[in-house]
Amino acid sequence: MKKNKNLKVSIVMGSQSDYKTMKLTAKILKSLGVAFETKIISAHRTPNRMYEFATLATKNNIGVIIAGAGGSAHLPGMISALTSIPVLGVPIESKKLKGLDSLLSIAQMPKGIPVGTLAIGEDGAINAALLAASIISNTNPSVKKRLNNWRLLQTQSVKKKPK
Ligand code: RP5
Repeated sequence: MKKNKNLKVSIVMGSQSDYKTMKLTAKILKSLGVAFETKIISAHRTPNRMYEFATLATKNNIGVIIAGAGGSAHLPGMISALTSIPVLGVPIESKKLKGLDSLLSIAQMPKGIPVGTLAIGEDGAINAALLAASIISNTNPSVKKRLNNWRLLQTQSVKKKPK
């Protein structure tokens, strides 16, 4: 695949309240040296902002979009409907249904418009960053090297015996 070191990841979320989860995505991307930006974009409260973001994303060198949303979580699917850039959805743990609503909203996209759906909450936020880094690493060998090293350190951190 052709090298492109300029592609960045965009982390978007429906509300400021999502940031306590989505900051973990930012932390992992930062540790892997992946360029990223963060934005609050709500599909229902700021639909025009969502439209502008999604339609300009290719021009703005965005290689992967990570969208965190809770409840009736339509943000990842709506963004995916507006751009063919890969969209990864992080279901935010909601107060009433513990994120099951978010998970089903994001995962159950009808055929034709895909959203790669991660686990609910912090695990999903972290894995979204790792998956985005993996996609970016297809065209960025430095990111590939750091990602492989991150995984090696994780493997080495697993003790052989319990204490
Ligand atoms: C969704 O509604 C957001 O993604 C958030 O998870 C949820 C609740 O938002 P706030 O009421 O905390 O702003 O749009």
